[in-house]
Amino acid sequence: MKVLVIGGGGREHAMAWSLARSEGVDEVLVAPGNAGTAREPRVRNLQVGAGDIPALVQLAREQGVAFTVVGPEAPLVAGVVDAFEEAGLPCLGPSAAAAELEGSKAFAKAFMARHGIPTAAHQSFDDLEAASAYIREQQPPLVIKADGLASGKGVEVAASKDEALLAAERMLSGQAFGEAGQRVVVEACLQGEELSFIALVDGEDVVALASSQDHKARDDGDQGPNTGGMGAYSPAPLVDERLHQRVMDEIIRPTVHGLAAEGRPYQGFLYAGLMVDGAGDPRVLEYNCRLGDPEAQPLLMRLQSDFAELCQAALQRRLGSLPPLDWAPRSAVGVVMAAAGYPGAVERGAVIEGLDGPEAADTKVFHGGTALDDDGQVVTHGGRVLCCCALGDRLADARQAAYRRVAGIHWEGAFYRQDIGARSLGREGG
Ligand code: AMP
Ligand code: GLY
Repeated sequence: MKVLVIGGGGREHAMAWSLARSEGVDEVLVAPGNAGTAREPRVRNLQVGAGDIPALVQLAREQGVAFTVVGPEAPLVAGVVDAFEEAGLPCLGPSAAAAELEGSKAFAKAFMARHGIPTAAHQSFDDLEAASAYIREQQPPLVIKADGLASGKGVEVAASKDEALLAAERMLSGQAFGEAGQRVVVEACLQGEELSFIALVDGEDVVALASSQDHKARDDGDQGPNTGGMGAYSPAPLVDERLHQRVMDEIIRPTVHGLAAEGRPYQGFLYAGLMVDGAGDPRVLEYNCRLGDPEAQPLLMRLQSDFAELCQAALQRRLGSLPPLDWAPRSAVGVVMAAAGYPGAVERGAVIEGLDGPEAADTKVFHGGTALDDDGQVVTHGGRVLCCCALGDRLADARQAAYRRVAGIHWEGAFYRQDIGARSLGREGG
């Protein structure tokens, strides 16, 4: 069968690579893909943007794809799954109504309040005067969030009230994030360690994926501005059986049941970004309605079950009778290599060296913002350019192998964090 992946980042390269290894899959189409998917065996790019929903529907129909998997949030929030369903085409991802969990932080916060799901105390505002009055009454640090989609960049952790006031003003005036900032959420700043908890949901039943963590800040030591994620690893030694059960019982199942009860049944990958405090209590920072990027890259490196079969089981509401997923009992680490300027504006077109040649066993370079130039060379084409992944028996081995791969790749202005996975090293084997 033929399958279609929508998107063109590192997550989508990993999804396409994993689907292409599935037994029943003859060809994976990617719209629009990147240079990595262009060069992947049994994978073909099609020049249709991830946001062009009518063209995507037409493409899936013309190409006779058995099913489609959506990578990024924007088309999900815009209703790509609804459009595919209307056309009778199976498409894995939440409907626009269910994707509002990510599309509107104000909706997500109100939803959590309705269903008793633990999260930071908050208020939502579309008026600067009211937001300012609230901020003045609160104890900093405070977190100010643009309501709508902002590629993981629409959040400011403000150390003082003045900083918080400024952030709210920039967002509500439309100066930062345009439309997405016309409403803001002001919430208490949670302390602890962040965890990415990702599950696949078929409307009712839930299969948790292996544990993972990413590094959101740009610089070593979790300093600098927030990004979409500078690296990730799986498993996350922070997650023991007890924490896993608590997240399933207190967060994931209540979310899935709550959405179904509100007439927005959820199908697809559901990602709860959590803060786990010193006492081990998990709280939701945000929901994402998709796989994480870069979490998907190390996760899919470890997945030994057939990914296409897993996607089909979710589409056919068979997750409840699926055998347990098979994960390599090893660690996987992914280190993002970014272009100078990221998470701000970046220049494109720098030639990337070091990609060719045989890939060592157990390493894989997933492409994000890359393209092929007229001479067939791989050039930079976005902020997060590559994610160098490696498997190892222990986290330390996987890290070493991933960084060895990073060291062999060069372009003008490339940068990456040196400490991906470092915070979990001491915890391994416990
Ligand atoms: P979000 O897009 O809501 O996940 O926010 C992006 C990042 O901002 C998170 O991954 C956290 O690093 C940080 N963040 C968001 N909300 C809070 C909060 N209430 N307390 C502390 N940090 C937060
Ligand atoms: N790595 C964070 C995200 O995918 O939103």
